[in-house]
Amino acid sequence: MHHPTICAVAAALLCALPGAQAGLYTKKSPVLQVDAKDYDRLIAKSNYTSIVEFYAPWCGHCQNLKPAYEKVAKNLEGLAKVAAVNCDDDANKPFCGSMGVQGFPTLKIVRPKKGGGKPTVQDYQGQRTASAIVEAVVQQINNYVVKIEDKSLDKFLSDKNETAKAILFTEKGTTSALLKSIAIDFSDVITIGQARNKEAKTVETFGIDKFPSLVLLPGGDAPGIVYDGEMKKDAIVKFLSQAGQPNPDCPAKADNGKAKEKKESKASEKKASSSESETKTATQEAPVIVETALPIPTINSPEKLIKECLTEKSHTCVLAFVSSSEDETAKKALTSLADLAFKHAQSKRHLFPFYEVPKSNEGAASLLKALDLSGDVEIVAINARRGWWRHYDAADFGHESIESWIDAIRMSEGVKKKLPEGIVASSVEESASAAAPEASSEPTPDATEDGNKSEEATPVTPEASGEPASDSTEDASTQAAEPTAEYETAHDEL
Ligand SMILES: *[C@@H]1O[C@H](CO)[C@@H](O)[C@H](O)[C@H]1NC(C)=O
Ligand SMILES: *[C@@H]1O[C@H](CO)[C@@H](O)[C@H](O)[C@H]1NC(C)=O
Ligand SMILES: *[C@@H]1O[C@H](CO)[C@@H](O)[C@H](O)[C@H]1NC(C)=O
Repeated sequence: MHHPTICAVAAALLCALPGAQAGLYTKKSPVLQVDAKDYDRLIAKSNYTSIVEFYAPWCGHCQNLKPAYEKVAKNLEGLAKVAAVNCDDDANKPFCGSMGVQGFPTLKIVRPKKGGGKPTVQDYQGQRTASAIVEAVVQQINNYVVKIEDKSLDKFLSDKNETAKAILFTEKGTTSALLKSIAIDFSDVITIGQARNKEAKTVETFGIDKFPSLVLLPGGDAPGIVYDGEMKKDAIVKFLSQAGQPNPDCPAKADNGKAKEKKESKASEKKASSSESETKTATQEAPVIVETALPIPTINSPEKLIKECLTEKSHTCVLAFVSSSEDETAKKALTSLADLAFKHAQSKRHLFPFYEVPKSNEGAASLLKALDLSGDVEIVAINARRGWWRHYDAADFGHESIESWIDAIRMSEGVKKKLPEGIVASSVEESASAAAPEASSEPTPDATEDGNKSEEATPVTPEASGEPASDSTEDASTQAAEPTAEYETAHDEL
């Protein structure tokens, strides 16, 4: 392989020898390398705005641009595509000509047309610094985010009322590149809205008291879910994926069955799809696609345990108490619960929330003591409002067994026990009412209570926690950790 700097020193002729087409960017570069035959799929048909550099490896200005351009690629990771085409490669020459490239480097911004069709291609004529290029590209990111005002809230909620929605509550009047990119990922899957803190009615409807806050409304009667993880793109995308898979970043490589669009280069395409390295390049840029269920949220403090599950107003909660989430049984139980939650979320059926509660949590210890439970892994369902609880007492923590237990709760079958006195908190500070739960412990059909009683406008309780959503150690099944890009500008903020 020819080292680019050697090419730079050597005469262009040398580097133009057959096979000597090593580009400026290495495989590890954050810059997506595109050629004539995959430009259409990777760039022109992507829903993302791209910037494309047309270059020749021997060109000095191209070499000078390289560090800044790689910085642009890192900055815009997940927000826009940053690509390069080596016009010195014979296979790309006609294509570069057809794109009107007359000198190197030429930078073009490719902006998809809203609603489909050919993208707009514009030359970038600005300064060749990372920040100037980043700004120019960010300006061209399509915006599908719906601004929500008090007067338009009802319309937002009722439009396509079975479609999942998410609302970002923010103090900002502008829409961030990050949120725009999320709306692109979930275009036609989840409607993304943005509401400003001064839209008092909207803020109040969802009980939001912290900005930014993100709420997912899975659709139908399902209650809103407040996101309490990091405000980082990959984490947010995973969270939203509960309600629907994000779009791919560009169409998949045409397989033999439906290779209709690109008739011109069938032969080379076949070759391409069998080439591993190319497949890799193509998937590198793809947004995170969650195939496994998200880990269930963890309750780390006694206060949160009370707030979520043990107030007089708390609906059914399923709590999985574990000594260590690394323990085999715990893993099995947590995975089963995560799968179930995911399955229900995907079919848009409402299900009461599941939480992992480390036994080291003081709140957990006293609750377990009161319930007289001492196993390494204990799963209970608690309905503080109605004063009952149920214990999962099978020895097997597999998916099916837990699912039938959950289904029994949903159908209000099986044994409910009365919660011991003193467990239910009289609403922590504000309502200093009687401590004893008034709620009748007589069985009320849960299917009705949790199933269809419209909870949609139930103020979702915002989680204030700034703590990281998942302590990376917690679940190996989630997904190989994505390298977190280092951003220098604020475009990765909501
Ligand atoms: C919501 O969708 C249901 C079923 O599709 C429909 O019957 C209902 O009228 C819709 N409600 C609103 C407010 O649009
Ligand atoms: C682009 O977005 C549309 C919805 O607006 C979606 O149907 C399509 O699959 C997306 N394209 C790609 C390549 O993901
Ligand atoms: C809930 O379900 C019950 C019985 O299935 C039905 O009678 C009731 O009207 C439903 N309530 C709502 C709000 O849909």
